[in-house]
Amino acid sequence: SLNNYLFKYKGYVFAKGETTGEYIDSLQHFEIRDSDVFLVTYPKSGTIWTQNIINLICEDTTDKSKFPNNLEKMPWLEYREGRPDYSLRASPRLFATHLTPTLIFCLIVYVLRNPKDNAVSYYHFSLVWAKLEKPKSFEDFLQQYLAGNVGGSSWFDHVQEWYTKRDQYSILFLSYEDMVMVTVEKICKFLEKNLDDAAIAHIVEKATFKNMKKDPRANYEFIPGDLLLKPQFMRKGTVGDWKNTFTVAQNEMFDQIFKERMKNIPLVITTVN
Ligand code: PPS
Repeated sequence: SLNNYLFKYKGYVFAKGETTGEYIDSLQHFEIRDSDVFLVTYPKSGTIWTQNIINLICEDTTDKSKFPNNLEKMPWLEYREGRPDYSLRASPRLFATHLTPTLIFCLIVYVLRNPKDNAVSYYHFSLVWAKLEKPKSFEDFLQQYLAGNVGGSSWFDHVQEWYTKRDQYSILFLSYEDMVMVTVEKICKFLEKNLDDAAIAHIVEKATFKNMKKDPRANYEFIPGDLLLKPQFMRKGTVGDWKNTFTVAQNEMFDQIFKERMKNIPLVITTVN
């Protein structure tokens, strides 16, 4: 069952601090523009990384004075706090979201991450995010994660829903594991941005873990200390860190569930081990 920090609305699990059912309902009247770009992820899949890349690709000369950091330039759609009037924004507007397909359309960049690394990242994040319950152990967290009792609901459902509805949207599927040069080029093409090789190389360089970690616009250390107990949005940023956390038994159990839940989705199978 859900812990006290979470609530379920229309079948989807949210963290209480971030939004309300009423606000989610009000998004039905949100006026979408054809040019809007949505970065969609299950939490802890590489959102702020891709956010930085897209923001850099779409950067214009006034951005630095208009937006102090990446969150202001690409706000989270479902978070209510400090929401500006988006209707006043020039196109193309950029949004990030962890929502499922019922609520959004338009240009979508979906980022997928190996769910074992995702679970480990989410576990560590729960330890430092004030508005989430502190898991007693990784095992305890993993059980909740597999049951979908975490903000964002079930990873399996999230991926499944977006993947099976892909024909109804204009979606670019990317994976955390492949996030390199070629990804920046793919995003440029998808967003119809013509950047030359030097500009692309510059973005690739700015979006490395090392450089993002010290970039105050991108490293999320601008989040106040009452929310973020330790500045750890940029934790490790590696592929396969799950191997340092999962036990053999947890890994076997995970593989079994993965095989069952993802059997219709060829896309993600290669990213799991
Ligand atoms: S959130 O809260 O949903 O927005 O979190 P999200 O940004 O999706 O995921 C956080 C993980 O992404 C890692 N990260 C990066 N990895 C590689 N390169 C870059 N530039 C980068 N930026 C962020 C971050 O460290 C988290 O992963 P873990 O495994 O916990 O380190």
